Amino acid sequence: MKKIILLLLVGLPVWVMCQTGNLSIIPQPVQVKMGEGSFELNPAASITISGVDAESRKVADMLAAELGRATGYSLTVRTGGMMPRNTGNILLSLNKSTDASIGNEGYTLKVTDATVIITANKPAGLFYGSQTFLQMLPKDIESNTKIENVSWKVPVLDILDYPRFGWRGMMFDVSRHFFTKEEVKRFIDDMVKYKYNLLHFHLTDDEGWRIEIKSYPNLTKVGAWNVKKVGTFGNFTPPTEDEPRDYGGFYTQEDLKELVQYAKDRFVDILPEVDVPGHSLATITSYPELSCTPGAEKYKVRSGEKIMNWSAGGFSALYDNTLCPANEKVYTFLDKVFTELAQIFPFPYIHMGGDECAKNFWEKNPQVLELMKKEKLKDVHEVQSYFVKRVEKIVNAKGRKLIGWDEILEGGLAPNAAVMSWRGMKGGIEAAKQGHEVVMTPTTFCYIDFMQADRAIEPPVYSTLRLSKSYAFEPVPDGVDPKLIKGGQANLWTEQIYNTRHLQYMVWPRGMATAEVLWSPKTTRNWTDFTRRVENHFTRFDAAGKKYAPSMFDPIIKARKADNGSIVVEAENELEGLDTYYSFDNSFPDQYYQKLNGPLTVPTDAAALRVINYRNGKAVGRMITIPIVDLKKRAGILKMDAED
Ligand code: ACM
Repeated sequence: MKKIILLLLVGLPVWVMCQTGNLSIIPQPVQVKMGEGSFELNPAASITISGVDAESRKVADMLAAELGRATGYSLTVRTGGMMPRNTGNILLSLNKSTDASIGNEGYTLKVTDATVIITANKPAGLFYGSQTFLQMLPKDIESNTKIENVSWKVPVLDILDYPRFGWRGMMFDVSRHFFTKEEVKRFIDDMVKYKYNLLHFHLTDDEGWRIEIKSYPNLTKVGAWNVKKVGTFGNFTPPTEDEPRDYGGFYTQEDLKELVQYAKDRFVDILPEVDVPGHSLATITSYPELSCTPGAEKYKVRSGEKIMNWSAGGFSALYDNTLCPANEKVYTFLDKVFTELAQIFPFPYIHMGGDECAKNFWEKNPQVLELMKKEKLKDVHEVQSYFVKRVEKIVNAKGRKLIGWDEILEGGLAPNAAVMSWRGMKGGIEAAKQGHEVVMTPTTFCYIDFMQADRAIEPPVYSTLRLSKSYAFEPVPDGVDPKLIKGGQANLWTEQIYNTRHLQYMVWPRGMATAEVLWSPKTTRNWTDFTRRVENHFTRFDAAGKKYAPSMFDPIIKARKADNGSIVVEAENELEGLDTYYSFDNSFPDQYYQKLNGPLTVPTDAAALRVINYRNGKAVGRMITIPIVDLKKRAGILKMDAED
């Protein structure tokens, strides 16, 4: 950790650190020059837009609404003309001649003791400038109800700001668990506070098809519904015939158009994903003829029961959850689906998934073997490549570009496809070397469905991604053309996410880290200052009644086997200034217990280690109880179970 901190500190321009004082803007702006004094919002003030365009007007209306909720002020929005002369007013001004230094999304924000002036080339810049302004107001601005007796002040300063990457995405899986249209809007509301501009919408998977497709009504009549199960997804008992299949839902085309417009008003594009040829059990349950495996008509939309055979190595499925690459009906189906999709989503790309396609059924299937012979495909990877190339033709024919997970490289990439690199950076590197566009989203830095603190207290997921690791993400690898790296995204898979409170816990603050990686210059990254700002944002989340993970306050506990066979534990912390206290006697440690500040041998008869972090005599971490059997697994003395 120390190494990461040091590395991130090295490139930091000194003036950013010393001059921004207690400002807590995330993502960190490109340039901040602090002045003297402050601006105070005036209840009689107005927001003026310099132009008359509808987009700027919407930005001003949204800012007035955001400011109005907690202040109770009804700020007037004025279109065109000059800002009134009385103090406390806000001006959103579009540049008459383009300022090349800030591009399409950048802005300048000038706060004096009398006025706030945001300038930009495009309304998107005015919107991002407004987000920055909102973040500088006292935390109570986040409240959903009026708060009295707050002086709504912002420090006098000058900001120049623009993004590092144009693709700043968040992937939201609404298939594993369905989230309503209103919940998706709240997700977008939270994204834009941190200047994300792309919602990658994972709309289909084994557990549910979520888009109304008029030419294939069973997709939502049948494919959108499974059996409600609660617990740890992945190992649920298989549903019985008599259990009701009433859990799930879908978006009508009108719902989706409404979401596209809602996102567009906030300068967010929506990238739709239809995941094929794997992850398609919901599709096959709706239309079994799209499978080439006999018996597919008995398949059911997955309810979280076991489907993959991980012990076989690679991606091997217990049920054939793939669309048949040797069946022309599949291509007719995809043509119709992408026709309807392109009418809903104007974004230039359509995502075809392409990940984790189990090919064990293809290897034995006479239709697939026949296709291989006919098309001279030497293995099942080339079969998938054949499939991807055909899908690309369909997608291109709808006027859209194809993007897919990095498996679409296997067996040969389609000629114009963009690649989303998730199994590390290597797929992205390879695609960029072949001249293709790339979005970086490696599991190691971007999978925000992973656990964020000690496994003993986190809802179980198979891997961990701590905040510091999210923050250490660098999307542009050495040796590739940076122009081909469009940006990156954080991915929220929802197998283990059953409700929006937990969703918020998983997204924040890691979503803040990815936002800063994608927006701010690499040279301004500073872990210590970032975590100071994150703490400030936690108070804003508290004011808004939103959940977040306090995991950065918790210790990282490691265990190893000593030469004499005993277990040795050690604690590390992501933040400076934390003290870890412990017990082995089953009591709850506090700051009067001993500190765990070096390697410690676990007493032979101990049943559990308990630890908690304090800072300046105040508990900031959570009480973590780790049974000794778990420490033995960490030390490699006992074997991990499948559930571990
Ligand atoms: C993925 O995580 N299967 C793209």
